[in-house]
Order: sequence, then structure tokens, then C-alpha cells
Amino acid sequence: MKILITGVAGFIGFSFAKYLLEKKYNIIGLDNLNDYYDVNLKKRRLKQLSKSNNFKFYKVDLTEKIKIEKIFKNNKIDFIFHFAAQAGVRHSIDHPRKYIDSNILGFYNLIENVKNHNIKRLFYASSSSVYGENKNFPLNEKENIFPKNIYALSKKINEEIGFIFNKYYNTKLTGLRFFTVYGEWGRPDMMMMKYIDCFYKKKLFYLNNYGNHSRDFTYIGDVVNILYLLLKKQKKLKDFDLLNICSNQPINLKKIISFMKKNKINPKIKKISLQKADIIKTHGDNQKLLKIIKYNKFSNWQNSVEKTIIWYQKNMIKKN
Ligand SMILES: NC(=O)c1ccc[n+]([C@@H]2O[C@H](COP(=O)([O-])OP(=O)(O)OC[C@H]3O[C@@H](n4cnc5c(N)ncnc54)[C@H](O)[C@@H]3O)[C@@H](O)[C@H]2O)c1
Repeated sequence: MKILITGVAGFIGFSFAKYLLEKKYNIIGLDNLNDYYDVNLKKRRLKQLSKSNNFKFYKVDLTEKIKIEKIFKNNKIDFIFHFAAQAGVRHSIDHPRKYIDSNILGFYNLIENVKNHNIKRLFYASSSSVYGENKNFPLNEKENIFPKNIYALSKKINEEIGFIFNKYYNTKLTGLRFFTVYGEWGRPDMMMMKYIDCFYKKKLFYLNNYGNHSRDFTYIGDVVNILYLLLKKQKKLKDFDLLNICSNQPINLKKIISFMKKNKINPKIKKISLQKADIIKTHGDNQKLLKIIKYNKFSNWQNSVEKTIIWYQKNMIKKN
């Protein structure tokens, strides 16, 4: 079985590819290695994956239609996990075009090949941000969605293109609405890693909304287990569906910060007001997901934060 993972040098793509390679799956990886954050971190992730003979990598941008088609012609792909995207809610305010190119056109170039090459199923990353300011917590997949920025809108458009492709071409797709994923090899632009990084690099940490944000933090170890179970149970999935990928446990940022303090991670903090694109709270309902995959061993968040700190200390300090 061959699995294409897009965004394979990114946080979630890398973590899942590593997990599958350890289970001896054949992985084809694709990424444009853009410089939205430290390219060196992306290269180091790729180096880990390249230790396996079952890993093949293409450095390509999803907007390069012809090159993408070629990958499908040259490889018999069974399943796709699509994680490549321009991420970052705040970045989308100043760089809207990147989201149109990578997230909308890029998604379209991929889904056309899903249709033309009889791919068994496309799993693709959506986001909790599609819910916008909907406060009907915990948010389930039937709730109305209100994208508040171009990033969230690009994910909503992916879901809608997916719906149409399923309706007219029988393409099988599962949209994964991720909620704030964190852990080892995590993204340096997200709160958890940024906080640790600011401490070790003696930089000022800007605490948005004076710390009054809550996030349904979801540990990467749980995310890869969930993705694997979805792959194993894919025949049980509806041809078109949307699933929250979350731990159903919102945590206030102040709580994370005081836990970090106990672990001696204590950067200088500057409290600032709410940013325009930010959502104050995310909290997803994961009952629909859990019913399908029967997963009941979510990690304890304190242990997972500790693992994240230890990973940083081992991997990011002496390399800088
Ligand atoms: N990490 C989270 O908490 C979170 C939450 C909600 C949704 N998501 C979504 O999950 C997916 C993975 O997120 P992540 O945290 O791993 O992000 P990431 O930025 O670490 O990974 C994305 C990867 O895609 C690559 N990429 C971007 N544009 C590309 C293009 N046009 N062509 C080829 N490659 C391209 C980047 O170089 C990067 O390596 C994204 O779609 C993101 O929007 C993530």
C-alpha cells in the first residue's frame, strides 16, 4: 500500500509519516519547504524520514500542476493524507494570497488527481478555525461555521470543494478539523513552542489577549494514533465526512504558563490585547470521532507538555 503525505516536512505530516514508516508502510512525501518558519527544522525532520528505504520525497509546490500530475502517473498511490497548507491565522492578515495559492489552488490540483487516479480516499487537514466565534461549546461537526479570516475561509472552501467532488465524481474524502496540535517537533510559530523558545533565547513572549485564551490543545502522540485508526477503519467511514480531531479539553493559556513555570520555563512576558484574527476559545466535541475509532487513551496534558519541553532541550538548544 502506498500513501502520499503532503506537507511531509511540516509538523503533523512529518509526525504521521514517521509513525507509518516505523510500521513499514511505503510513504511518498511532498513539500515545498517554504520559509514560513525555520527551514532547517523542516530539513531535520526530512532527514529523520530519509533513514527509511520506504520513504520517497518530492520537493514540489502544490501549485505546480504538471509536476503534481507526474507524481501520480509515476506512483500507484492508494491513500492521501493532505497536510500541506499555508498555516497561521495571524499571518493570513498580511499575506492573503499565499492562502489562496497553497490552500485553495493547491487543494484543487490535488483533488483533481484524486478523481483522475482512483485514489481510495483523501484525508485532508481542515481546521477548528472554521467555527469562528461560534460559542456553542463543545462544538460538534453539525454546528454552523463562520470563518473569521482568510485562513479559515480557505479551509471552509476545501470542505465545500470536497463535498462537490464527492457528489459528482464519487471521490471519497474525510476532512479533519484539527484543534491546536502540540508536542515534539512542533511548530515554532505556535504558542507552546514559542513560549519555550522565548525562554531559552531570552526573547520577550507576547501574551495575546492578556492570556485569556483557551485552546483545545491536542497532543501529537494522540493525533498520530487517531490518524492511524482512521486509516485502518477507512471502510467504515462515510464517503464524505468531517471530523473534529481534538481532545475535548480546553485549557486556559494562563494554566499552561503556570505549569511551564513549575518546569522552570519562565520567559519575560509582555501582555497585549486581543489580535484581530484571533478566536478567544476553542473547544471541540470529539464524540463522532471516538464512536468510529474507539480511542479512549488521550494523553495527560501535563505529561505531554513535559515531553515537549524535554524534546526542545534535547534537540533545539545545542543545535542553535
Ligand atoms: N498544527 C495545528 O495545530 C493545526 C491546527 C489546525 C489545522 N492544521 C492544519 O494541518 C495541516 C498541517 O499543519 P502543521 O501544523 O503540520 O503545519 P506546517 O506548517 O508545519 O506544515 C505544512 C507543510 O506544508 C508545506 N507547504 C505549504 N504550502 C505548500 C505548497 N504550496 N506546496 C507544497 N508544500 C507546502 C510547508 O512547507 C510545511 O512543511 C495544515 O493544513 C494546517 O492548516 C494544523
